[in-house]
Amino acid sequence: MSERKMEAAAVATAPIGGGMRREPSYASMAEQDDFDLSRLLDKPKLNIERQRSFDDRSMSEFSIGGNLKVGMDGYDPVYSPGIRSGFDTPLSSVRNSFDPHPIVAEAWEALRRSVVYFKGQPVGTIAAYDHASEEVLNYDQVFVRDFVPSALAFLMNGEYDIVKFFLLKTLLLQGWEKKIDRFKLGEGVMPASFKVLHDPNRDVDTIAADFGESAIGRVAPVDSGFWWIILLRAYTKSTGDTSLADTAECQKGIRLILSLCLSEGFDTFPTLLCADGCCMIDRRMGVYGYPIEIQALFFMALKSALSMLKHDAQGKELIERIVTRLQALSYHMRSYFWLDFQQLNDIYRFKTEEYSHTAVNKFNVIPDSIPDWVFDFMPCKGGYFIGNVSPARMDFRWFALGNCVAILSSLATPEQSVAIMDLIEERWEELIGDMPLKICYPAIENHEWKIVTGCDPKNTRWSYHNGGSWPVLIWLLTAASIKVGRPQIARRAVDLAESRLLKDGFPEYYDGKLGRYVGKQARKFQTWSIAGYLVAKMLLEDPSHLGMISLEEDRAMKPLLKRSSSWT
Ligand code: GLC
Repeated sequence: MSERKMEAAAVATAPIGGGMRREPSYASMAEQDDFDLSRLLDKPKLNIERQRSFDDRSMSEFSIGGNLKVGMDGYDPVYSPGIRSGFDTPLSSVRNSFDPHPIVAEAWEALRRSVVYFKGQPVGTIAAYDHASEEVLNYDQVFVRDFVPSALAFLMNGEYDIVKFFLLKTLLLQGWEKKIDRFKLGEGVMPASFKVLHDPNRDVDTIAADFGESAIGRVAPVDSGFWWIILLRAYTKSTGDTSLADTAECQKGIRLILSLCLSEGFDTFPTLLCADGCCMIDRRMGVYGYPIEIQALFFMALKSALSMLKHDAQGKELIERIVTRLQALSYHMRSYFWLDFQQLNDIYRFKTEEYSHTAVNKFNVIPDSIPDWVFDFMPCKGGYFIGNVSPARMDFRWFALGNCVAILSSLATPEQSVAIMDLIEERWEELIGDMPLKICYPAIENHEWKIVTGCDPKNTRWSYHNGGSWPVLIWLLTAASIKVGRPQIARRAVDLAESRLLKDGFPEYYDGKLGRYVGKQARKFQTWSIAGYLVAKMLLEDPSHLGMISLEEDRAMKPLLKRSSSWT
């Protein structure tokens, strides 16, 4: 570490109060070339007191009152916290007569083992607690996206603090100056992950965060900010406590994240243009452009923000922009990303080279570019949002996360939501197989794999991001199927997962066409596989939890939707 960095670390230290201790892996993050806390001291907008706050100030210094506004502002708590039992006992199994599967207790224990503390306060969960694995890489960090299912599990179990501290900690990290080489990232960018470093000699904790400058491929996570907003709403909805979301800090955090995405540029589409690897699929997989995962999360974050933004001067202006964008975005997605039998047939018969407003084939998609597999895959009943739409390019692959989030956020119309569930049932073997569920379908192979992934040896066909099966996704499938009124789909999937997850040590992913093999390089005790399973169980056990991660269709949007088709 350079002298300046040492200095910076000293500013950002604090005595610790306990927590998980692992061998520090100072890997790339501590070597961040341009990140220097001490420089921030000079920033006029941050005084010394504020600067301390990055790491040193206790998060409890934020004035979050216990001020519960039950039943107000649409924040009816899903259930009231009630009296806590011992830390080790999942409340959900105590409250109900439900007889938990033996794997539930093991899963809770594993989840608790993954908790990370900063100054004695729980601030997140590490990605994987895999002692057997030689390569730690960055799996010993708290990933924002990975923490979401953990957070939901804790919220559903009435354990709110860890979620609150996580939200506040990441908000402080958002305030850091972020640079890659000499390029400064937007103010609102949230980290992909952070790590708590413990200095045993001085008994101090420091934080290192990765905004993409250490990530493989150097891509900033577009999804982190969206997940942060979605989680803030889940916290608010679950606790009934609006005081956290109401703080000036949280309001500013929301504004910064969304300002990044709502700014006008050269775009002709309301969707968000992204680099490959900027989301859960965090390496080159041909998802660059307008990936469904990001569009669905963007939509959900916008809607979640609407329910939390204050109607003050700054809030009002943003609210107007959000409403306008939501209308355009839902029109675009529902019209152009949607694929069912009829739509496929229409595209198959598209004329090309059409010019002017009367064009039917607006993006000039050449029918010959439709892959063969999709004709067999498309059932008569069912449909889905395809992976990507941009000029002359439709990525017909199915992506699980984007489609489930589309249902949860009501980006999908009620008819589309039903159709997505129909598709899952009709194509059960392909999408669920022996282990729920495929991250995407189908895998890319051979020459296409070489070109698209850059010969990535981890993403070979039916492995990892390339058609691998990810147990974490089961919580999204469960939530979506409950929302559509088809919980039996989730039950079937949970039964499958239950039969193997514990035995296999909660792997990160499975390989193969049916997902029968534990993934080639999958971590064991992957936290979100554990938490995803628990969330699915708790949702099935008490579907009223759904409210914290589901948004209803805004009735006002329907008539407006028609007007927003004006660009045709
Ligand atoms: C992998 C996944 C990414 C996840 C990370 C930590 O890189 O692709 O989505 O956040 O592992 O689990």
